[in-house]
Amino acid sequence: MSTLADENRQHWDKMASQYDTHDWQKTMLAYVSSQLITHRAIFDIPSEAINTPTPSADAKPYRLLDYACGPGSVTRALHPYLTEARGVDLAANMIKLYNERAAEEGWGDALAVQGNLLSSGEEEAKVVVGDAFDGAIVGFGFHHFEGWVECLRRLGERVKSGGVVGIVDLVLKSDALDHMDEHQKKHMHVSGFTHDQMRMYMAEAGLVDFEMVVLKEPIVMPIRGERTEREVFFARGRKV
Ligand SMILES: C[S@@+](CC[C@H](N)C(=O)[O-])C[C@H]1O[C@@H](n2cnc3c(N)ncnc32)[C@H](O)[C@@H]1O
Repeated sequence: MSTLADENRQHWDKMASQYDTHDWQKTMLAYVSSQLITHRAIFDIPSEAINTPTPSADAKPYRLLDYACGPGSVTRALHPYLTEARGVDLAANMIKLYNERAAEEGWGDALAVQGNLLSSGEEEAKVVVGDAFDGAIVGFGFHHFEGWVECLRRLGERVKSGGVVGIVDLVLKSDALDHMDEHQKKHMHVSGFTHDQMRMYMAEAGLVDFEMVVLKEPIVMPIRGERTEREVFFARGRKV
């Protein structure tokens, strides 16, 4: 396991129980969840809900890989539109929360497993999660990874031809890393991405039909006690 992955696993195992307990986290996750529904077409998520007691006759199936799923924010937002969700995360405590919430809140056919699909072949092979997904979405995990082109390529291997790889993350703000403390810098590889970077990484990973939207409202988080606004983007590339 690389140092960055190890730092992430330790950090997120420790932080799992506090991931969405503070008011700023609740506000931010509620906003991003509502925007995931509004902009779901960018990830090819169907317009009609299927995972409800009375699904529309026009509802289409959708199998999601929620990568770096944490406690399941992406699945939680989109579950009415999903026939199946599979979460993968490095941190065992996040997996526990995902599976507890899926059961308690009735997310349908949703299950998370611990692992790292971005690591060496041997470690990746241990993760039994399936493939040929309609989409693989990474919610706020991409800036914790390294080797972004390879990550996109790996996720692309898990989606079917014509399926999408989607990234929800922060727009680069040049001085953001300067405001991080040393601990944050260890598990956050970068503080965000530009439109040009995302377009280039997707293209280099062989993904086509690139699209990216920046959400209208910034999210607000305290960094070293300072109120900090950050823009959020949704980006996708499509497997040929
Ligand atoms: C900021 S949290 C995001 C959680 C969730 N996706 C969300 O949108 O709220 C980042 C998550 O990425 C996970 N993570 C970091 N590196 C990873 C990797 N290489 N493979 C799988 N998960 C990873 C962490 O364990 C953590 O749960």
